[in-house]
Amino acid sequence: MDVLQIKGLSKVYNGKVATQALTDIHLTIQQGEFVGIMGPSGSGKTTLLNMVSTIDEPSSGEVYINGKNPYLMKRKELALFRRRELGFVFQDFNLLDTLTVAENIVLPLTLDSRRLKDMDRLLKRVAGRLNITDILNKRTYEISGGQRQRTAIARAMITSPSIVLADEPTGALDSNSSRIVMESLENINREEGATLMLVTHDPLAASYCHRIVFIKDGKLAAEIHRGDSRQAFFQRIIDTLSFWGGNSNELSAIRV
Ligand SMILES: Nc1ncnc2c1ncn2[C@@H]1O[C@H](COP(=O)(O)OP(=O)(O)OP(=O)(O)O)[C@@H](O)[C@H]1O
Ligand SMILES: [Mg+2]
Repeated sequence: MDVLQIKGLSKVYNGKVATQALTDIHLTIQQGEFVGIMGPSGSGKTTLLNMVSTIDEPSSGEVYINGKNPYLMKRKELALFRRRELGFVFQDFNLLDTLTVAENIVLPLTLDSRRLKDMDRLLKRVAGRLNITDILNKRTYEISGGQRQRTAIARAMITSPSIVLADEPTGALDSNSSRIVMESLENINREEGATLMLVTHDPLAASYCHRIVFIKDGKLAAEIHRGDSRQAFFQRIIDTLSFWGGNSNELSAIRV
């Protein structure tokens, strides 16, 4: 089943100078896929994610999530749709410092006034998947960056959204924490069948995805699929980036 369908999507930002950020994008993501979006700075990755997360409106074209066009919804319906169907993960985690890890994770459920017993069951399950069960009672300032991001992923996953959207989820992490976060996402994708769409600059993080879509100057430029070997995929990502223009000077220090 198609969780996401993007048809002929274009976005123009009207400022003093109009910027054509996206041009005629067609992209379909199926249930259970793990898709990465890559491309040079300014190529339109965040814009694309914002069109899917309904943060900003397309100039033309359509977005369907589970066959529904969120841009045709009324405000209240859209708010509910976002809370139930979409999960968000941010580069800077967006956790609440005054709450514990557990309280942060169940926050989306409290908004839906779910029963305590249900919340506890879902919390234990998602915390187990992300390997953060032993830090549930800590405050967010008492845990590491990688643990914070796994907490944020747990919060995004606890409602079992149709698709989880992440913009640079490893952008604030060192390489070891990045790896642990990506392994957690891979685990959630495999075990729960979660559909994931993430933007990243980091070829190592991207190598955990199953498909990478490359954007250049607001247009789809290339698409590659992972086979059995993540190491071989990593190399193909680097080759594709250097062909289509990435930040190839950043790549020399990276090891698989
Ligand atoms: N709110 C906005 N108003 C005007 N122009 C914008 C706005 N947001 C983005 N742009 C422009 O649209 C283009 C695409 O920006 P976008 O943020 O999608 O790039 P990106 O691929 O996410 O880049 P990065 O890798 O640096 O995060 C850029 O030229 C940018 O300057
Ligand atoms: Mg961006």
